[in-house]
Amino acid sequence: MKNTNWFKDAIIYQIYPRSFKDSDNDGMGDIKGIIEKLDYLKELGINCVWLSPVYESPMDDNGYDISDYKKIYSTFGTMEDFDLMLSEMHKRGIRLIMDLVANHTSDEHYWFKESKKSKDNPYRDYYIWKDKPNNWTGFFGEKAWEYDETTDSYYLHLFGKKQPDVNWENELVRKEYKDIIKFWLDKGVDGFRCDVINLISKDQRYKNGLNPLILVGKKYYINGPRLHEYLNEINRDVLSNYDCMTVGETVFSTLDDIKLLTKEDRNELSMVFNFDHTSVDNYLGVKWLMRKFSLKRFKKTLDKYQYGLKDEGWNSLFYENHDQRRSVGRFNTDDDKYRVESAKLLATTMYFLKGTPFIYQGQEIGMTNMQVNSLDDFIDIETINVRKTMNSLPLTKKYIDKSIKNGSRDNSRVPMHWDDSEYAGFSNSKPWLKVNENKSFINVKQSQNDPSSILNYYKKLIKVYKEYGDIVRDGIYLDLLPNDKKLFTYERRLDDKILLVVSNFSNSNIKCDILDNYKEFNKEVLLNNYDNASNELKPYQSILYYLTK
Ligand code: NOJ
Repeated sequence: MKNTNWFKDAIIYQIYPRSFKDSDNDGMGDIKGIIEKLDYLKELGINCVWLSPVYESPMDDNGYDISDYKKIYSTFGTMEDFDLMLSEMHKRGIRLIMDLVANHTSDEHYWFKESKKSKDNPYRDYYIWKDKPNNWTGFFGEKAWEYDETTDSYYLHLFGKKQPDVNWENELVRKEYKDIIKFWLDKGVDGFRCDVINLISKDQRYKNGLNPLILVGKKYYINGPRLHEYLNEINRDVLSNYDCMTVGETVFSTLDDIKLLTKEDRNELSMVFNFDHTSVDNYLGVKWLMRKFSLKRFKKTLDKYQYGLKDEGWNSLFYENHDQRRSVGRFNTDDDKYRVESAKLLATTMYFLKGTPFIYQGQEIGMTNMQVNSLDDFIDIETINVRKTMNSLPLTKKYIDKSIKNGSRDNSRVPMHWDDSEYAGFSNSKPWLKVNENKSFINVKQSQNDPSSILNYYKKLIKVYKEYGDIVRDGIYLDLLPNDKKLFTYERRLDDKILLVVSNFSNSNIKCDILDNYKEFNKEVLLNNYDNASNELKPYQSILYYLTK
């Protein structure tokens, strides 16, 4: 494998194409819309984009159900548009990583259409068919097997019914994916975000799961027996020939799994997204089961990976994506009175940890969750299915309402607020999902004009991040107050140089004397979300100090 380490200096911005910018006013974002906004991204300072799926798809799961991996979804544009976007990104020093969805396809993919025709079809074995289903359940709160009468058998789908899981045991399937990966790398893309990649190897015994509660059978399909072998094979046969990176979405993985997956000399993945820190406000890693946030638990979770991956492997640093609700207002912060302070505090606290920062579109202007009148405003397939399941369980309406409001993925899929016009400058026609009323004051145009905006803070943060790149990349991490319930203070130390983060995760003033420990150092404030820096921290105040001897 090529020694590709640029991912360690990348600052990655995620674009969810249907909600980013609509150039042709059909209410849906598109590739030309992305091109229009590349200067905005350049100015923000990011140097890589992760683009959620833009491939041909019936859009049952907004593109995570692919019917042709080598075609662009026509509502998003053409392959020519894509090529132009890629070259315009590269011109601006922005790399592009694509979304690789390899655990499942759409049921409208040619492979599946063939596969379901007969038991002896050459594509039959591209998917997982059984005469009798086991008791597994999938991620959208349903049974994981669907009956198909053509051949009187069941196919596995760990997500929606229209997303059959492919059979990675089949060498031909692996060959197809290698070919797809090569196709995009040959076009010049710089890597992949690999969707639920740790589900691709299933335990071939297809045993019934014992856990009666959540994701029945998960121990048989998460981090399956051949996962490392498959990743290694893809690396050996394709990725290693290119200067590219991969970030794997790995659900329910442990630190040990992640060490194996990201250790450089194992040639599997550059890094992974693990969701432990976004699960501290739920039970069992299931966002519908709400739990009170605890800063101590949050720090403990982040610390586990900061310390655990300090010598081998690599972290991704994120709060948001198209599956998570918005970060401002979460993690004990405030999306109302202290929204601006909170968004800045969250950014400073996360992005000076060790790892690669990921910013999700709209996060940089402090966009909030979707403002809804009723639960029927949520149209995401996961929300609809889970709501149905919850309604059949002995749960109160109040609980269901709160849980759905909290958990719906539509929260972060609200079209990007570019200005305060009727459709927030996203489109001139009614968007596929409504924009928030708070577009009147949360939007890019306003943020650009306000020197103290979240957007301008992000720009400054990214500049500082690049300027102190050596410490950010290699500095040793130490959590200074792991047991404190309101303060998150840590240092990154490289020789005699220290980046010190001091953050108050509460809405009251707090005394913090941590600087007394650094009496012999010169102190410079690099970032601050208030005007003053003292040992009396204001609500949600966050300061980044640079200490030298
Ligand atoms: C994870 C993706 O992020 C999510 O949006 C999708 O529904 C599932 N994987 C299935 O592809």
